[in-house]
Amino acid sequence: MERQRIVKVLETPTSEKSLTVCGWVRTFRNDRFLAINDGSTLNNLQLVIQRDEFKDDVLKQLNTGAAVEAVGVLVESQGGGQAVELQVVELKVLGGADPDEFPIQMKKHSLEFLREKAHLRFRTNTFAAVFRVRHLLQFAVHKFFHEAGFFQIHTPIITGSDAEGAGEMFKVTTLDFDELPKNEKGKVDFEKDFFGKPSNLTVSGQLEAELAAMALGQVYTFGPTFRAENSNTSRHLAEFWMIEPEIAFADLKDDMKLAEDCLKYVLAYVMEHGEDDLVFLENREKQAEKQLPEKDRNAHSLRERLSNVVESEFVHMTYTEVINTLRNSKPFKKKKFKFPVEWGIDLQSEHERWLVEKHVGGPVIVTDYPAEIKAFYMRANDDGKTVAAMDVLVPGIGELIGGSQREERLDVLKKKCADFNIPEEHVWWYLETRKFGSAKHCGFGMGFERLVMYCTGMTNIRDVIPFPRTPMSAEF
Ligand code: 4AD
Ligand code: MG
Repeated sequence: MERQRIVKVLETPTSEKSLTVCGWVRTFRNDRFLAINDGSTLNNLQLVIQRDEFKDDVLKQLNTGAAVEAVGVLVESQGGGQAVELQVVELKVLGGADPDEFPIQMKKHSLEFLREKAHLRFRTNTFAAVFRVRHLLQFAVHKFFHEAGFFQIHTPIITGSDAEGAGEMFKVTTLDFDELPKNEKGKVDFEKDFFGKPSNLTVSGQLEAELAAMALGQVYTFGPTFRAENSNTSRHLAEFWMIEPEIAFADLKDDMKLAEDCLKYVLAYVMEHGEDDLVFLENREKQAEKQLPEKDRNAHSLRERLSNVVESEFVHMTYTEVINTLRNSKPFKKKKFKFPVEWGIDLQSEHERWLVEKHVGGPVIVTDYPAEIKAFYMRANDDGKTVAAMDVLVPGIGELIGGSQREERLDVLKKKCADFNIPEEHVWWYLETRKFGSAKHCGFGMGFERLVMYCTGMTNIRDVIPFPRTPMSAEF
């Protein structure tokens, strides 16, 4: 008999016909009630078994974590808590889970403990909910762009370029480290390497997406990106996923509108299709926040925050306005900020978070940053000091999206390459799009894990990607 997924079974009215379900045991109470979960939904199915119909050796194996298959009839539940339950006629233990060894017991485990057990943490309600929401979000991203007339482009993962110019790249090589070939200058001879030149894992698909946008008009790439920055924070991964749209014939205003529309669309999609999981995550957050001092708790519940984002207009501020606001702020005057605040600095997370959490209380789009602190490809503004950049900052996270209008003027871009020490021969192909049919265009990058954090209320980025890669950690 074909297995039914529990999400469907729970939607079914009672049925005379017997059906088959599979799942992992969550609890076994009174030798009679077995709650199983198959991952298709947060909700468990209650199986009711008649003790004397099953051998003791079967009953003995019904421990938390065991995999079972059951055949039975769906009846109206006698107890509260669920509408239906399965009266079991056949029960098979597919795989036992020794209670002395299985680490995921029904008691509450800390997220830190579960990170060490990333291979099993999917079995908890929290992680299953997070990864179902993660799935919904990525589906909504594709749906949003498809409906808006974008084409997905698969940009390369191995590349020779450093799009962001931050130099935080993982090398890709097949050279033998014990016998590195050297050139006449005594340096490693990359001509002997697999690609005949140094190559690395991409930090961003943007440069290639731009090439495609200059023909297909509106494209996006959504893939893994890699950064070897040694920052062990709760918001940085060495391997993360990024959504990068790129649009031709568009300027920074269009870019900001696209970012705002996209964010609202995907959050609204999860609110509509992932309600059970969001309610669960909202309660989990409330519980977790009980440990925190009042001032560190969220003023609004998870779903209130999400609907505020969906319903509000994002606040816009220029970088210069932000600096002035920060310098007039209480924490600045009371010397509470760790990092200095003056025109030209890169905004630190403490500044971004004060701005969105305390000053505005919602997402803020910051524009027109100093050219020196942003990447070479951003379009120079007429003031000669700033570039047409925009970052979307959100409460709890800080920077969620970074984007810009792109420099489409060949002469200006060549000068930027020189200023940033980027040899033209490394980016000749990028420069050629400015030579042939150049046009204004723009795009942004949204960190997918930061989006999942924002949508689930999880506060550590390691808890929203199945197998996090961070400095000194690549287990599993
Ligand atoms: O601001 P970033 O560096 O921008 C770019 O890479 C551009 N090429 C995007 C574009 O215009 N197409 O990164 C974009 C976003 C950040 O706002 C942040 O959300 C996320 O990517 N991000 C990270 N997420 C997790 N771990 C890291 N180490 C991240 N670095 C950036
Ligand atoms: Mg950025």
